[in-house]
Amino acid sequence: MDIARTPSTPDGNPEMADAAHEIASPVEVRREDYRPFPWAVPQVALDFTLGLEETQVTARLDVRRNPAAEASPVLRLNGDGITPLWVKVDSAETTGWVMDGPDLLLTLPGEAHSVEVATAIAPAANTQLMGLYASNGMLCTQCEAEGFRRITFFPDRPDVLSTYTVRMSGDAGAFPVLLSNGNLVSSGKGEGGTHWAEWHDPWPKPSYLFALVAGDLEARRDTFTTCSGRKVELAIFVRRGTGDLERTGHAMESLIRAMKWDEEVFGREYDLDVFNIVAVSDFNMGAMENKGLNIFNTRYVLADPETATDGDYDAVEGVIAHEYFHNWSGNRVTCRDWFQLSLKEGFTVLRDQLFSADMGSEAVKRIEDVRVLRGVQFPEDSGPLAHPIRPDAYREISNFYTATVYNKGAEVIRMMRVLAGPERFRKGCDLYFARHDGEAATCEDFIRAMEEGAGLDLTQFRLWYSQAGTPRVTIRMAHDGDKVALHLSQNVPATPGQPDKQPMPIPLKVALFDPQTGAHRGEQLLVLDKAEDSFIYQGYASRPVLSVNRGFTAPVAIAQDVPTSDLVFLAAHDDDPFARYEAMQELVVTHLKEAVSGSLSDEQRDEGRAAIAGALRAVLADERLDDLMRGELLILPSHAYLSEQMLVADPGAIHGERQALRADLARALEGEFVALHERASAVPYSLSPQARGARKVKTQALIYLAEGNPALAEKMAAAQYRAADNMTDRQGALMVLAGLQGPERTHALIDFYNRYRGNALVVDKWFSLQAGSLHPQVLDHVKALAEHPDFTLTNPNRVRALYMAMAVNPAAFHDASGEGYRMVADLILQLDPLNPQTAARFVAPLGRWRRIEPQRANLMRAALERIAAAPSLSRDTHEQVIRSLG
Ligand code: PHE
Ligand code: ZN
Repeated sequence: MDIARTPSTPDGNPEMADAAHEIASPVEVRREDYRPFPWAVPQVALDFTLGLEETQVTARLDVRRNPAAEASPVLRLNGDGITPLWVKVDSAETTGWVMDGPDLLLTLPGEAHSVEVATAIAPAANTQLMGLYASNGMLCTQCEAEGFRRITFFPDRPDVLSTYTVRMSGDAGAFPVLLSNGNLVSSGKGEGGTHWAEWHDPWPKPSYLFALVAGDLEARRDTFTTCSGRKVELAIFVRRGTGDLERTGHAMESLIRAMKWDEEVFGREYDLDVFNIVAVSDFNMGAMENKGLNIFNTRYVLADPETATDGDYDAVEGVIAHEYFHNWSGNRVTCRDWFQLSLKEGFTVLRDQLFSADMGSEAVKRIEDVRVLRGVQFPEDSGPLAHPIRPDAYREISNFYTATVYNKGAEVIRMMRVLAGPERFRKGCDLYFARHDGEAATCEDFIRAMEEGAGLDLTQFRLWYSQAGTPRVTIRMAHDGDKVALHLSQNVPATPGQPDKQPMPIPLKVALFDPQTGAHRGEQLLVLDKAEDSFIYQGYASRPVLSVNRGFTAPVAIAQDVPTSDLVFLAAHDDDPFARYEAMQELVVTHLKEAVSGSLSDEQRDEGRAAIAGALRAVLADERLDDLMRGELLILPSHAYLSEQMLVADPGAIHGERQALRADLARALEGEFVALHERASAVPYSLSPQARGARKVKTQALIYLAEGNPALAEKMAAAQYRAADNMTDRQGALMVLAGLQGPERTHALIDFYNRYRGNALVVDKWFSLQAGSLHPQVLDHVKALAEHPDFTLTNPNRVRALYMAMAVNPAAFHDASGEGYRMVADLILQLDPLNPQTAARFVAPLGRWRRIEPQRANLMRAALERIAAAPSLSRDTHEQVIRSLG
């Protein structure tokens, strides 16, 4: 399929097809070319005759001219790899249609018509997992962003909203459960062992929210009574007879908590009589918010103590909430076009972050979210794929489901909340929902509602939507007499297509500590909205210690020349837990940056390490800290984040220094880590914060010891593995063993596989732990695992478990031989014809080459060039490779 754009399309739709350009040069779609669709489609009736090999689809569209658009008699119905079996206009079969590339064009004379099109599709052959596909004998759909056009011909764009009625029939034995959006209207038996069901969704929606599922499923059921007293039937469906049903309890509890929370915190009530969730094992992404019928990757539904870690429990809760929250932020108010994706995604990520913070520890949640932002989004923002949260152009929209649109998008809305305060922010949200309910809206609509509802002037703030790149804020503190001056400047770096940037408003929470008393005089919110500015504070007889960007109020990088003693002070005393974590990170980052650059004498290096060891010792001993927070403070800054601090990174040197520091810390604190492990091991399993915290620090202790005293760590990890009564302990121990070279490694890996073979999600962990390990032969292990009978390219979870784990494992991926790069390139070339969307996601790690030392950079670029030279590439991979070579 392809989408191309020419200015002379008959209907003014920017998505004009041009098959000739398909592979060579997919044409850009541009935000500024948006035009409303000339036709409205108020009603859609779909009829499916289901089969795994072949499914027949007839679609009847009631169309009428859209008075808000430039008139055109041409109706363009998008298609992708489908052909019409027949076409009827106003009930009469017609041949008056033409194909334009993948699309079907009809010329319609009147104001309103009924258009019917029949197609036949092959779900079992659909390896892209877009449109209607088969997964373990079940049929399911994925339509966002442009999958609906692989099912039937339709104006497949989010600003065409329709009311759907769906009838489906199929073999009652193969497909006992038949689901679609909305409410079940009727069902019955048909001929020859078939049955049928009819569903109706009363809420107008764009085609990307359509869903259908048919299969042999069983469900956990519950109910939720909304704030206005309506009873909603809830169900979570899994494949029958897999044992998965017992693993859906946590997802159901999370769903109910999310429904309640959205009523209480955002005033949003659910709006249908049923809410269904289906778990499928073959899925490109995490989950999908189809109206009333969410479809989930099994990994974000299934959890029990035996097979899911504490992290998995949190991920299930967060994704269940995320998809549920889309019912308002995404479905009731949807996006006008795909450039507005952050309108629903950034906002919904913020909503799920606030929810998870309320369900657990706010501080720990904030730290985790910032870690993802810095580890994934900052590198994206400083590389060849950088784009604003509201992009200006794309060739393949699937490539823009990014950490920038999602996570930076959430940070941008969070800043509005910081500026307005929670109450006024809520007023802005209320106005947005009230004003745009039932519409396809834009980011600009959201900003305007926030300005009016929350009483903010966001004129300059709009730059956060249009400018890419992580702003860098440089801070200098001057102390003179009793006066403190903070001199701040900002620089938004150049990014592809955006050489010059304007200063943006950057809200920073700050506090000035008196190092003697350990107290500060209250937090202040500074807004740096110029290239440079100074902020003066009086009454400081002695030089205070600055705590800045407390709570991470702005998604920026801070550059500051701070004495180590200040960082040590903040790491021990800051009353903002995020700032405390930040000081700890900064202490390590500063030291490692210097160590890697080779600017430290042996003595200075020892001093640096001793300062960090002292701070860590304080963290280990601090009785006011809970273990969940202690665990965060023990985590060293990631390789990705460290690389980000350097203009050109040497992955080998960074990895070496980071591991050497860890070894040194482990030796200095061996007794403390052993004692911590012992204390934590005595806490019995439960999901309480205390018990979760204990499990977190337990494995952290092993990670340190593995570097400082591998023989001891092997013994302790093997014992933890054997004693484990839950997956968190078992996986933590196995992760540590997988990086060691003793005999316990092999024993544990064999035991783990035999114990969990047949449980796909746990076997995924088994692949990931080996591909992500610190073992020196990790690349050989990955090659062997690719030949394992359980490995398959057709299951995205399995592909990611093996290859994404390797691609984000710096020691493996950046092996000096270039073998890691070659393996990722080989994977992309093999996977691209099967599943372009998943293949294209592997390009970004190679795209970092400009920021890597020259020898590896050449090897990375060569890998990209080899992909680019392939005779036929999907639009997805093609776009990412071309941008990466840029
Ligand atoms: N809209 C989904 C979400 O954020 C993500 C998704 C995108 C899923 C595209 C499938 C395909 O929750
Ligand atoms: Zn989402």
